[in-house]
Amino acid sequence: MKITIIGCGNMGLIYARAFLKYNIVSKENLLLAEKNEARKQELLKLNIGQVCVVNDARISQSDIIILAVKPQDFNELGRELRQVLSPGNVIISIMAGMKIARIEDVLQQKNIIRAMPNSPAELGMGMTAFTAGRSLSMEQLRKAENLLGTTGRTVFFENEDLLDAVTALSGSGPAYFFYIVKQMVEAGKQMGFDEATSSMLVKQTMLGSFHLLNTADKSLDELIKAVASKGGTTEAALSTFESDGVGEGLQKGIVKARDRARELSSFV
Ligand SMILES: NC(=O)c1ccc[n+]([C@@H]2O[C@H](COP(=O)([O-])OP(=O)(O)OC[C@H]3O[C@@H](n4cnc5c(N)ncnc54)[C@H](OP(=O)(O)O)[C@@H]3O)[C@@H](O)[C@H]2O)c1
Repeated sequence: MKITIIGCGNMGLIYARAFLKYNIVSKENLLLAEKNEARKQELLKLNIGQVCVVNDARISQSDIIILAVKPQDFNELGRELRQVLSPGNVIISIMAGMKIARIEDVLQQKNIIRAMPNSPAELGMGMTAFTAGRSLSMEQLRKAENLLGTTGRTVFFENEDLLDAVTALSGSGPAYFFYIVKQMVEAGKQMGFDEATSSMLVKQTMLGSFHLLNTADKSLDELIKAVASKGGTTEAALSTFESDGVGEGLQKGIVKARDRARELSSFV
């Protein structure tokens, strides 16, 4: 297998490392096209693939090309990349909000897959949703899924519009989680703990609770009820959250993120 990653910033590097870790590609067959000079030097030092430029003729022999640049860099990149593509290349874009039709148009190329990963991909615990243009064969989709799966779980959606909701839910999701953790740590500090102690109490609670959620044969409501006895402390917190609209606010924020993803995709 020959793979090219275009844009080796945070996400590009995560994919390069994951592909090598699972022996999907050898360093010799992994092209890393990067524009940023400092980043290029870092990649050369890391020695994890062949560092190249975006109009390198070898790119045309890639089975899969991953586009991991920011959406605003795509137009300029597309004009150069178009020159070296061949019809057999399958392209996986992870650019937020960039529609398949637009990528096809700029690159003058079919076989486009659009994927939305999230940051736990770095640990192989990511959640990636993807969708594909009509021209892709089952074989090409399967190969792409194997690649995306090196960073965690994958799910395929037929309907590309759902990728905006994915962006809002799992793409941005890690930030919501960190936000909630931050509020809990702050509450701990208000009650007299130092940052480190409060952080330990909260992080271990989140870790254990996640595993309970994943293994217990109980619904979310039952899990909540098991902690919140009538008239007790948890109930005091939960009823304050309810009366202050905390849950509703979170839901509203996430839907707003979906709307913003839609809005942004109409600009790019
Ligand atoms: N980070 C996340 O958690 C996450 C999650 C889901 C999706 N995404 C998507 O993944 C993409 C990459 O995000 P990121 O956080 O990895 O960004 P990033 O760290 O900025 O990486 C992008 C890299 O591509 C380089 N680049 C720009 N134009 C180029 C070109 N023409 N040829 C070669 N390289 C070029 C950039 O160089 P310069 O720095 O010089 O511009 C930068 O080093 C974005 O489209 C984002 O929407 C990110």
